[in-house]
Formats: sequence, structure tokens, C-alpha cells
Amino acid sequence: MTTIASAGTFTLGNRTVKRLGYGAMQLAGPGVFGPPKDREAALAVLREAVKQGVDHIDTSDFYGPHVTNQLIREALQPYADDLVIVTKVGAKRGADASWTPAFSADELAQAVHDNLRNLGLEALDVVNLRLMFDAHGPAEGSIEEPLRVLADLQSRGLIRQIGLSNATRRQVAEGRRIAEIVCTQNQYNLAHREDDALIDELAADGIAYVPFFPLGGFSPLQSETLSAVAGRLGATPMQVALAWLLQRAPNILLIPGTSSLEHLRENLAVASLTLPDAALTELDEISSANTRT
Ligand SMILES: NC(=O)c1ccc[n+]([C@@H]2O[C@H](COP(=O)([O-])OP(=O)(O)OC[C@H]3O[C@@H](n4cnc5c(N)ncnc54)[C@H](OP(=O)(O)O)[C@@H]3O)[C@@H](O)[C@H]2O)c1
Repeated sequence: MTTIASAGTFTLGNRTVKRLGYGAMQLAGPGVFGPPKDREAALAVLREAVKQGVDHIDTSDFYGPHVTNQLIREALQPYADDLVIVTKVGAKRGADASWTPAFSADELAQAVHDNLRNLGLEALDVVNLRLMFDAHGPAEGSIEEPLRVLADLQSRGLIRQIGLSNATRRQVAEGRRIAEIVCTQNQYNLAHREDDALIDELAADGIAYVPFFPLGGFSPLQSETLSAVAGRLGATPMQVALAWLLQRAPNILLIPGTSSLEHLRENLAVASLTLPDAALTELDEISSANTRT
């Protein structure tokens, strides 16, 4: 039987994780706010992921808020030694489910302590500084001040490693001059390829790139080409979208999100799916078509 190990591994700083991981954001309630509609089902998804060999889980204390981390703790403690939990800081939630930037030294320290408490950890494996200079995506601006705050929390032993999220190439370069950056987590998928050059740069330096919305996010990818390729290969469109990412670059680590056991199993099964060159060429057309419209 194929296991997820056959998709290979990559380094996250001083840790090595399997390239097929899991993103926990979908476990919170609608709008990533409040409790899940089925708590037992959410716990079952987390346990199944780890049972199938997932050793990289992405989360944040602002999912819920607190909910996703509390579910991870309940489902998975005591944590396996090889499990790497990656979290992110830089936003807070309003009572109306809104997301607002939270980058002051106090807010960042509070966020780290919230993550530690709700995950039940003494130190966080990896913390991504999730930039939020613009509501809709990456935007330029110096990241020195908040990154130095995280570096200080790292020197105090609360954070083991630091990553960036929603960052431009310039911000990644700036960040790497200030601290050791072990991963970058940005939006990237078959249809949304603004980070092509950044991925290649990071690959050359052995740094992980973790695409968020690998399946398109809240509105999963839909494309005739994707469906046609999937049909020919006897796979689902979502599996083809994930397999394409695995073949795109060796430093890509996947964290597809789902609240469904069935979808989780389907996503992890891509470990045994290899896309032929002709399919890759066809799939590459999806982003060009997107750019043209
Ligand atoms: N750094 C950031 O700013 C940021 C932003 C967003 C997300 N993230 C992280 O990235 C992770 C992944 O992103 P995401 O979960 O938002 O988006 P995603 O992985 O692109 O897609 C999730 C959506 O696809 C559906 N889905 C999953 N597997 C499926 C399958 N096999 N067939 C059909 N539908 C499927 C899910 O619904 P079901 O629940 O019904 O399966 C959900 O609606 C998150 O969990 C989070 O940890 C980070």
C-alpha cells in the first residue's frame, strides 16, 4: 500500500517533514469563527491525518479564535515527537468575526502565549509572521519591527523557528537579513502563480514554500482543463491540483484544508499520483488563461 511518505520530505529549518501535511483552518465554524458544527468529526479528521503519517499541521490561534488549536490539543496530545505544528501571528478577531492586524510587541507576545496555552506547548515549533499591510494580499512595507519582536521571543525560547506569510519577495529578502526564515506561506495554486520566481529562489536556498489555498480556498478550483486531465488519469480534480504542486518544486510542502474525513483521505492519496509531462503542460495553461482574462 502507498503511504504518504512516498511523496517525499523536505526541511522546515532544523526539522524534516513529509511533503503532504494538513491545514486545520477549515475545522473552525463558518467564516473560520466559532466552534465546528460537528466537534467529533473535527477531532476524527485530525486523528486520521496523524494516523496516515501527517507530521506537519498548520494552524493559528486566530482560527476560531482559539478553537482550532484547542481541537488539535484535544485530538493529538500527547503529541508525537515527529509532529511539527506551525502557527501564525499578526491578526486578531473581532466579535463580528472580522480580522484586524495585530503587530504591536504586546499583541505579538500575547498571540504567542495564546498559541502556547491553547496548543498545550512550552515552545512553538514554527511561527509565521502573517503580514497584513493590505486586506487583499501581499503589500510592500518594512517588516523589521514585528520580525525583531518575534526574534526576541525566539531568543527567550518561546519560539523555535520563524517563517513569513503573505509576504512579497522583497519582504522575504528583508526578513532573511534579520532572522533565519525557515518557510514562506503565501497564496499559490494552479490558477494563482504570482510566486513562481519566489518559489524557485527559495528552492535554490533549501527553504520551504507552503502554499495556502492550494485547492483554491473557500471556492475550490474549477477548470475544464483540470477536470479533463483528472478524468483521463482516473483521479479527482483536487488530487490533480495537489499533485501538480508536488511536482512544481521540491520545496513545496502541502497543507490542504478540509473538515471531511473523505476529502482528507482523497487528498493524502495523491502520494501515489504522478502527472505525466503532457498533463503538466496542459495544467500550466490554466494560469496563463487566468492572466489573459
Ligand atoms: N497564511 C495565511 O494567510 C493562510 C490563509 C488561508 C489558509 N491558510 C492555511 O492554509 C490551509 C489550506 O487552505 P484552505 O483550507 O483555506 O484552502 P484549500 O486547502 O485550498 O481548500 C479548502 C477547501 O477545499 C475543500 N476541499 C478540501 N479537500 C477537498 C477535496 N478532496 N474535494 C473537494 N473539496 C475539498 C474544503 O472543503 P471541505 O471541508 O468540505 O473538504 C475547503 O472548502 C488552511 O487550512 C490554513 O491552515 C493560511
